[in-house]
Amino acid sequence: MTPNIILTGFMGTGKSTVGRLVAAELGREFTDMDTLIEQREGRPIARIFAENGEPYFRQLEAGLCRELAGREGLVIATGGGALVTEANLRVMESSGLVICLDCDPATLWQRIGQSEDRPMLAELDEGRFTRLAALLEQRAPAYGRIKHHLDVTHLSPEEAAKRICEWANERMANF
Ligand code: S3P
Repeated sequence: MTPNIILTGFMGTGKSTVGRLVAAELGREFTDMDTLIEQREGRPIARIFAENGEPYFRQLEAGLCRELAGREGLVIATGGGALVTEANLRVMESSGLVICLDCDPATLWQRIGQSEDRPMLAELDEGRFTRLAALLEQRAPAYGRIKHHLDVTHLSPEEAAKRICEWANERMANF
C-alpha cells in the first residue's frame, strides 16, 4: 500500500499550491477536495453554502474523506475545515500521512483578507479580520490534534513542498 499524503490547515496556508508541487515532485496524482466537490456539485463552494447551508457542505466533505481514504498514493489538499471534525481526521490518518500547514494570522490576512469566495469569512458585524482570528482560535484545538505541522509563514510554496517531500519520504517506509 502506498500511503496518501494529506495537506490540511487553515484557509490561505497554501494547501493546494503546495500539494500540487508535492505531487509533481513525487510523480503522484493530486486531488483537491474543494475542486472535486465543486465539480461534482456543478457550482462553487460559496453557492453550496448559500443554497444548502454549511451542514450540507460538511456532509459532502465527510463522504469525500471516506472515499479518498479508500484510495492510495494520492496527494490530497483538504478544505480548511475538513479535518476539524475528528472522525474525518481519523479516517484520513488511516490512509496516510497528514500534515497541517500553519501560518500567522497577519500573513493569512494579507493572503485571504480580500477573498470573496470563502463563505467562512463572510462579513459579520465584527468585521473580517476579527472573524478570521476568532475562527483560527476556535479551530486551534482541532488543528492541535494533528501530529505533524509545518509553519509556512516564512516559506515559499517551493520551500514548503521540498520540506514535505523530505518529511514524507522519511516516514513512508514506516507507515
Ligand atoms: C473552509 C475552507 C475552504 C472551503 C470552504 C470552507 C473552512 O477551503 O473548504 O470554504 O471551513 O475553513 P480552503 O481552506 O481551501 O480555502
